[in-house]
Amino acid sequence: MKKLVVLTGAGISAESGIKTFRDAGGLWEEYDIMEVASIEGWHKNKELVIRFYNERRKQLETVQPNAGHIALAELEKYFDVQIITQNVDDLHERAGSSNILHLHGELVKVRSTLDPSIIYDIRYKEIQLGDKCDKGSQLRPHIVWFGEAVPEMMNAATIAQHADIFVVIGTSLNVYPAAGLIDYAPKSAPLFIIDPNPIAANIFRKIEHIKEKASTGVTRLAEILKDKYC
Ligand code: APR
Repeated sequence: MKKLVVLTGAGISAESGIKTFRDAGGLWEEYDIMEVASIEGWHKNKELVIRFYNERRKQLETVQPNAGHIALAELEKYFDVQIITQNVDDLHERAGSSNILHLHGELVKVRSTLDPSIIYDIRYKEIQLGDKCDKGSQLRPHIVWFGEAVPEMMNAATIAQHADIFVVIGTSLNVYPAAGLIDYAPKSAPLFIIDPNPIAANIFRKIEHIKEKASTGVTRLAEILKDKYC
């Protein structure tokens, strides 16, 4: 089976009701990114950061995967699909996808501030200031904040290097190192981008732009790929 590597961003979850970050009305219009999604913000006001992720985790329980997530899961019947997602939601998992690498962490998990290998899956529950890990240190969201390293980046780059086909769905390609994954894909791998908006990022390779929302664009992509490769 051909290796289909898919880089997803907030856009694939938009039609599930989860705000993107940089679209009009996006999350970063409502919150100061540095106050709620950076290591400095955590040290400055832990309660504000804990509240921000508690609210997003609570909302996650109320939303469902959309047709884009589901169509992507179904592509596993025809391709060796590996998803690399910037999203911290669990909608790819809930749609039935099997191989998912979270570059920026997972909303349903929290971890020790003393030992990052101590991770708890709390699903959609809240944490509070004073909630501690088994070693007695404050729990924090298992999220990669601005100003922190991206531990999974080398694993993601290795996956991208083995792509036969590379697909980008619903990301502005604004944030590095994630956005740089395109450059790891072999030049021989065709690049598809699914996004209803114009591609703002500078990409120096041939692109097939499916200018649709994820809910219909992924199905369109599946038709193209099955026609060409199956
Ligand atoms: N279907 C597909 N794409 C969509 C849809 C949709 N229904 N709606 C919006 N988009 C596209 C937008 O055109 C844009 O290109 O999704 C992209 C969303 O971009 P951002 O809001 O910047 O989200 P993302 O690229 O995932 O952000 C990357 O930035 O703030 C950090 O850690 C955060 O992982 C996030 C990273």
